[in-house]
Formats: sequence, C-alpha cells, structure tokens
Amino acid sequence: MTASGSEDAPIAYRIRGESATRKLAGRLAELLCPGDVVLLVGELGTGKTCFVQGIAEGLGVRERVLSPTFTLLREYTGRLPLYHLDAYRLEGPGDLSDLGLEEYLEGQGVVVVEWADRVRDFFAGDCLEVSLCFDEGGEARRVSLRFRGDSWRVRLPRLRGEKG
Ligand SMILES: Nc1ncnc2c1ncn2[C@@H]1O[C@H](COP(=O)(O)OP(=O)(O)O)[C@@H](O)[C@H]1O
Ligand SMILES: [Mg+2]
Repeated sequence: MTASGSEDAPIAYRIRGESATRKLAGRLAELLCPGDVVLLVGELGTGKTCFVQGIAEGLGVRERVLSPTFTLLREYTGRLPLYHLDAYRLEGPGDLSDLGLEEYLEGQGVVVVEWADRVRDFFAGDCLEVSLCFDEGGEARRVSLRFRGDSWRVRLPRLRGEKG
C-alpha cells in the first residue's frame, strides 16, 4: 500500500484486494471517537461495504456486517456502537431527518454512510469522507480520504505514510 498527501490535502492510497481495503479501514477504526461521521462515496462495487466491514472488525464488532440496502440502517455493538446507513434508496437529506438520524449523531456511536453523496448536505459538521474508485481494470482501488474539522486534522496523520 502506498500513501501520499500533505497537510489537509486528501490522503490517497492505491490498494489491491479486499483484504487491503479491510485492513485500511481497520486502521482507521482505531482512530474513531464517539460522534464521528464517516461518509463513503463510490460507484457500485468499489468496496464501500467492504470498508465498513473493516471498520467493524477494527471496532471489535463480532456480528457479520451485511449490506444495509433493504433495512437502511443497521446497528452493531463494538468498542463504540456502529451505525451503518445505506443512502442508496434515499431521495435526499430530508429523508435522514425523517429517519431520526440526528439522534444517532448526538449519541456515543460512529455513523458510517454508504452512497453518502446522495445525502451529503445533511452532514454539516466534522466528518471524514472516503472516496473509492476502480483502478487497474478493477483489480485494485484508489481510495482517498478528506476531512472537515480539527479533530480529524489532529488524528489523521497517524494513518499517513504508514505502510499497509
Ligand atoms: N482494494 C480492492 N481491490 C480489489 N477488489 C476489491 C478491493 N476492495 C474491495 N474489493 C472487492 O469489491 C467488491 C465489491 O465490494 P462491496 O464492498 O460490496 O462494494 P460496494 O459496497 O461499494 O458496492 C467485492 O467483491 C470486494 O472483494
Ligand atoms: Mg455496499
């Protein structure tokens, strides 16, 4: 795994294979704090659910993390509660208010959102955005991490430059 990026620039990785995606997500999980929001953006099949599975493993969730497409929101118990949301079928940010998502954001858990570009305006506070796209004809992925907020600015360098 290779990483690049300077202060506040996106951190970019090229990773090959599902286990590398899980491993990167697992390392990120170690940095997570109550109230964090992680937004996942990327086409179908780029590895969003796989990334959430890695976060869950890193948080010590024992249950298997499934795609929440038909349930919208799934909750898992780990070092921190994990709220896994899939926005694929949502029309826009208003649908998240209808779901009562504000209460989850105020809680002690971590909210992770697949297809977050569909509801991005709902998340006005600090967040980490993970963008995934295909690379090497689908054999690998490019992953870039961008953040908003000082708490991420402080934490994220712990990922930067480390070898996977
Ligand atoms: N870094 C990677 N390189 C190659 N394939 C990957 C990588 N990460 C995940 N995959 C594969 O991508 C496929 C789709 O993953 P999934 O998490 O279901 O995507 P999404 O939730 O974005 O639709 C899976 O078959 C998974 O093994
Ligand atoms: Mg998915």
